[in-house]
Amino acid sequence: MSNLYGGRGLELVSGSGAEVKDAEGRSYVDFLCGNGSALFGHCHPVLTEAAQKALLSPWTTSPGLLCAARDELRKNLAALLPEGKVFLCSSGAEAIEAALKLVTSLRPGRFKILALRRAFHGRTLGALALTFNPQYRRPWADRLLPVQHLRAEELPGAVDEGTAAVFVEPVQGEGGVYPLPPAVGAAITEACRSAGALLVADEIQTGWGRCGALLASLGAELDPDVVTLAKGLAGGFPIGAAVWKGALGDFPAKGHGSTYGGNPVAASVALASWDLLCSEKYPELAAKNGGTFAAALKALSSPLIVEVRHKGLLVGVELSVKADPVLRELQSRGILALNAGPQVVRFLPPFTAQEKHFTAVTETFLQVLSQLI
Ligand SMILES: Cc1ncc(COP(=O)(O)O)c(C=O)c1O
Repeated sequence: MSNLYGGRGLELVSGSGAEVKDAEGRSYVDFLCGNGSALFGHCHPVLTEAAQKALLSPWTTSPGLLCAARDELRKNLAALLPEGKVFLCSSGAEAIEAALKLVTSLRPGRFKILALRRAFHGRTLGALALTFNPQYRRPWADRLLPVQHLRAEELPGAVDEGTAAVFVEPVQGEGGVYPLPPAVGAAITEACRSAGALLVADEIQTGWGRCGALLASLGAELDPDVVTLAKGLAGGFPIGAAVWKGALGDFPAKGHGSTYGGNPVAASVALASWDLLCSEKYPELAAKNGGTFAAALKALSSPLIVEVRHKGLLVGVELSVKADPVLRELQSRGILALNAGPQVVRFLPPFTAQEKHFTAVTETFLQVLSQLI
């Protein structure tokens, strides 16, 4: 096993909603949730049933064949954008790769691609070119597609007629939980529109209800030409999607593909997750619970807290100290969370987190911070 992921020395063997148990029977409140992909919590009965049912039919069929679940999912996703077209794949980075190939083929002769400082769009070579973190880029720096990374306020002024595309996260997740100010989002949208550059909203972490709406783009005043989704789309079952405005055109024939993209099991779970979003009004719940949780964190009295930033259930607490020791101590006290840069503790609660979970996390977080003073 490569040492890429470090390791937390933790094996989760069972779970329900926001609660999980490790191999030794210890319980945790899980606000890490598979890096945000278990958006519906663990073992949601509706998603589990959809997966079980789909497993009794062929698990994988060629993407070129008809498949009721895949076709229905495509139809639902297409409705996100005017006359939407959809490419299905199996991960976030793949969705970004697809978007990158799409925008460059739709804007031939334009070689400028813009993204934001602190951006995270994945780690495959194309996606890595869009990702900002110099630590992730360094070993491959001389092989990456040229991308300019700018501060949000500088970006609109840099869009010109040589610009093929602009990639943005409506809320930067991995980069530190920074919601894009709506005025900047509006300026980026306008700049792209007037220069004919394509605007790609990376909603892999923010989308599918996490930030309080099906897509977080609208709240950030972004009017994207292309949207990428993954993570929570099938509640953590591997799937990704690129959706774009149909009037723009399409990939060149044979220009892209994916064996597993939209395979029947993933598509069935994603469809069930779509139904849940609508029937349970999870995006509204995310807005409400995220707001209450962030307010409780803001009310904590600790000199180590610099700022609490959030949008729905994407919550970051910037500290004046390193996040990793805090995360280790939280884990030892039964709380799972993750970092977003060196000094930000990120909480990614699932839709199914209850008041008792938010309270436990808030109280334990204060205890851990108090111990560090
Ligand atoms: C905004 C964003 N884009 C892209 C990715 C890459 O997704 P994946 O890890 O599924 O390749 C991530 C993953 O964290 C993400 O948060």
